[in-house]
Amino acid sequence: MIRIPKAEYARRRKALMAQMEPNSIAILPAAAVAIRNRDVEHVYRQDSDFQYLSGFPEPEAVIVLIPGREYGEYVLFCRERNAERELWDGLRAGQDGAVAEYGADDAFPITDIDDILPGLIEGRDRVYSSMGSNPEFDRHVMEWINVIRSKAHLGAQPPKEFVALDHLLHDMRLYKSAAEVKVMREAAQISAHAHVRAMQASRAGLYEFSLEAELDYAFRKGGAKMPAYGSIVASGRNACILHYQQNDAPLKDGDLVLIDAGCEIDCYASDITRTFPVSGRFSAEQKAIYELVLKSQEAAFAAIKPGNHWNQAHEATVQVITAGLVELGLLQGEVSELIASEAYKAFYMHRAGHWLGMDVHDVGEYKVGGEWRVLEVGMALTVEPGIYVSPDNQSVAKKWRGIGVRIEDDVVVTKKGCEILTAGVPKTVADIEALMAVARTEAP
Ligand code: GLY
Ligand code: MN
Ligand code: MN
Repeated sequence: MIRIPKAEYARRRKALMAQMEPNSIAILPAAAVAIRNRDVEHVYRQDSDFQYLSGFPEPEAVIVLIPGREYGEYVLFCRERNAERELWDGLRAGQDGAVAEYGADDAFPITDIDDILPGLIEGRDRVYSSMGSNPEFDRHVMEWINVIRSKAHLGAQPPKEFVALDHLLHDMRLYKSAAEVKVMREAAQISAHAHVRAMQASRAGLYEFSLEAELDYAFRKGGAKMPAYGSIVASGRNACILHYQQNDAPLKDGDLVLIDAGCEIDCYASDITRTFPVSGRFSAEQKAIYELVLKSQEAAFAAIKPGNHWNQAHEATVQVITAGLVELGLLQGEVSELIASEAYKAFYMHRAGHWLGMDVHDVGEYKVGGEWRVLEVGMALTVEPGIYVSPDNQSVAKKWRGIGVRIEDDVVVTKKGCEILTAGVPKTVADIEALMAVARTEAP
């Protein structure tokens, strides 16, 4: 299935090249294959920047962009076709495929890169690369430069400047195109369905991993190759551990379970959290905390629109949560003072969201010139307030302790506000209880 059209990759490369200084070259490597142990590899995931510019899915490849080059601006180094290797590991595009299917102007075997690339760099003033993130590749770049330097006495001209590619490229990635939003919507819908499935399956006596299995089934059945990050299935007090991943505790009647999980489709992530009662009914305290988190999330949605700045959604959640905690008696004092002193952080210690895209915590600056970034159409972000009452918090009544609630949705900024991509999972107390009640009566 083609989700991002070939023409869009070409547009992205053109847009990047248009921003590069005159007489420069950009070089980006594909992600390396990560070995798990001996002959076993981790599931391959292409590097996001590389994928964004090429859609080329293979390892052992290098993109070279050379604006203005007479014989083609987009050069791709990649593996050669090899009948024996393809028998073991699967098909390769080869150089013909790189040109015909992936739009390269010119393609060479990756094994020839040391002979060819110095010649492409020579005479260019600037080299753009993502310096610092891949030390082995940085070393290769320096070796290619040194080949040119070693020939300076013959008139070869080594580049004079090295520029980090990240700023230009990551700013482009922050603005999602219509095709990208469509893929993100698809990932979000599959993940929403997975959360519904987990809610329906929840029973005391099962384990956290039993619900993780429901998620994995729905992700894979929906066509996702893998989760976008390690799924968190945290019941009871485990919900107060923000990055809990053990997922092996038994589900107990009367506890809540917090699930933070999302799948990835064509390298685009989704990221959803829902918190619901193991046995389908909220207690009074659980409901009070839950509805406060939900109210703060609604305040955040209202703050997301073009022209508002990035932090306004977070500020809205802090305001609602702090006032609510005072009302419930979990905090004492003036709301404005409790915000100024950050007293709310004992219960709400993370931010209300992050950019979302090819990476779950996506690229893009949060501040520009020292000021919070102003939201624009096409930016995608999560909205994920939470309240976590530590089981060890002696300053609150015992009935509150160990309750952890987070609610997380994915949104894209639109002209008038934002589109919620993950609206397919119930969220109000009444809707969650109704869904779970039906699932329990229908169960065998
Ligand atoms: N699942 C990671 C996050 O919510 O940021
Ligand atoms: Mn999450
Ligand atoms: Mn998130």
